[in-house]
Amino acid sequence: MLDAMLNIQGLTVAYGGIQAVKGLNFHVQKGELVCLIGCNGAGKTSTMKAIAGLLPFKANEASFKGAIDLITLPAHKRLGNGLALVPEGRGIFTRMTVLENLELGANARLQAGTQKSEVLEDLDKMLALFPRIKERLKQSAGTLSGGEQQMLAMARALMGKPDMLLLDEPSMGLAPLMVEKIFEVVQQVHRDGMTVLLVEQNAHIALQLANRAYVMDSGLIDYEGKASELINDSRIRETYLGQIPQ
Ligand SMILES: Nc1ncnc2c1ncn2[C@@H]1O[C@H](COP(=O)(O)OP(=O)(O)O)[C@@H](O)[C@H]1O
Ligand SMILES: [Mg+2]
Repeated sequence: MLDAMLNIQGLTVAYGGIQAVKGLNFHVQKGELVCLIGCNGAGKTSTMKAIAGLLPFKANEASFKGAIDLITLPAHKRLGNGLALVPEGRGIFTRMTVLENLELGANARLQAGTQKSEVLEDLDKMLALFPRIKERLKQSAGTLSGGEQQMLAMARALMGKPDMLLLDEPSMGLAPLMVEKIFEVVQQVHRDGMTVLLVEQNAHIALQLANRAYVMDSGLIDYEGKASELINDSRIRETYLGQIPQ
């Protein structure tokens, strides 16, 4: 696969005897924004966690940046190798301050020898992207609103300067205005060159942003194509876009 950032073939994830992901094949090219949509329980989060190394999985191939084998790479080495997950539910440290959360995001880089001055420059850039976070650096992260926590989770992941960002349902539980803001940032980060795999239940908004999309159902990929084509596909419209006002 020429220029694939992520290439997954035959991915399976099981909880005990129950298979949640049953043999997925998908890839994300460098610089692409690909979305993975599907109903609740389809296996999207299990897929993301497997890629991020948080769940055991099997695969025929799981390669990152062409050369890195995710089947054998330990979870704690994912970030240092350029793969960052913003998990469903955000996973920020609520008792730590906003700034401490952001510093944690850069830890792997500092340990790998990146100069602190460079990290501080990145922090400045990050805060320009997330002005709401900038105003709240000293607050404990638990006092942020849901949307602000989502922004913090994304900012923290970006502080690791990843090559690829995995976003699991960034809009979950947020008010429409905040959803819009979150997706503006996703779009901005993608425009600046980031490769993104985005899991969303809000198919309408995801398909508007993405280059390509995979539709998952019961642990399998049911459908794939260009986002612009899926948006106009009658079956997709009926199943996944039906309840969303146009
Ligand atoms: N920790 C778990 N233990 C057992 N089954 C689980 C667990 N997490 C998820 N599942 C099951 O795996 C399937 C896929 O779940 P998930 O990956 O969370 O789907 P999605 O993110 O698409 O909603 C569901 O049937 C769910 O009930
Ligand atoms: Mg999920």
